[in-house]
Amino acid sequence: MELKNIKLEQKEGILIITVNRPEKLNALNFETLNELHYCVKKIYDEPTIHGAVITGSGDKAFVAGADISEIAKLNEINGRKSAETGQEIFQMLENSPKLVIAAVNGYALGGGCELSMACHIRVASQNAKFGQPEINLGILPGYGGTQRITWLVGKGKAMELMLTGDMIDAVEAERIGLVNYVVSAEELLPKCFEILKKVAEKPAISVGLIIDCVNSAFNKGENGFQTEANAFANCISTDDFHEGTQAFLEKRKPIFHGK
Ligand code: COA
Repeated sequence: MELKNIKLEQKEGILIITVNRPEKLNALNFETLNELHYCVKKIYDEPTIHGAVITGSGDKAFVAGADISEIAKLNEINGRKSAETGQEIFQMLENSPKLVIAAVNGYALGGGCELSMACHIRVASQNAKFGQPEINLGILPGYGGTQRITWLVGKGKAMELMLTGDMIDAVEAERIGLVNYVVSAEELLPKCFEILKKVAEKPAISVGLIIDCVNSAFNKGENGFQTEANAFANCISTDDFHEGTQAFLEKRKPIFHGK
């Protein structure tokens, strides 16, 4: 697929996905969303990829939201469809068995904040700003944001952020649990790589199953404890389980092979 709005780069087994519409503050138009879908599939399918980072082009924005010029033209029918499509892509990202980190390098507003929340971990640069300003447009977060922001920051703060539409800075985002780390702009990608590389050395099956178990804690249709017990049993049948336990007993460093 030819990508017009996203830059892809692979470094040390990590896929770097850069939303690249800096003149529109990397706003997610439908074409970009479709390209993002392709990139998420790549994370799943490509065995040489052990994790991914999503960021925005330029130093001003991660993603400043869905593209308002397209949103403005929606009607009730294609509006529902567009929310469902966005939700599906972000859910696929959230359920990726490989770690995906959002490197938030500026404005993460609306669909941009939602995109960062669909990633497993968020690292922000000091100039990052977060917000769900959809209320100011007479809509609401439609790519899963109403749910994920509530999971991440709790009901009271989620209500306040979505009802006022106010932006918060990176320090406040860290304080309320929206981001894991705040670092300087220069440190942003190195910090993401540090985490990604550490996790890439872990047994891949455990990594995927931990992501699955955590997600199941937020899925009302699932019994997370049962998901956990099944996942635990699944780990026991892997080579990496034998390697990890044997290495401990033999006082050596384990070498995992992802099976
Ligand atoms: N959709 C479409 N275009 C967008 C956009 C969005 N979500 N966010 C920014 N842009 C465009 C602007 O229209 C402008 O384009 P132009 O130069 O062709 O006029 C360009 O990006 C630069 O944005 P600008 O508003 O001039 O920058 P700023 O520094 O003055 O303000 C923001 C930055 C982020 C505060 C402001 O752009 C903004 O409020 N964006 C919308 C955020 C939003 O409501 N997101 C939720 C959408 S559902």
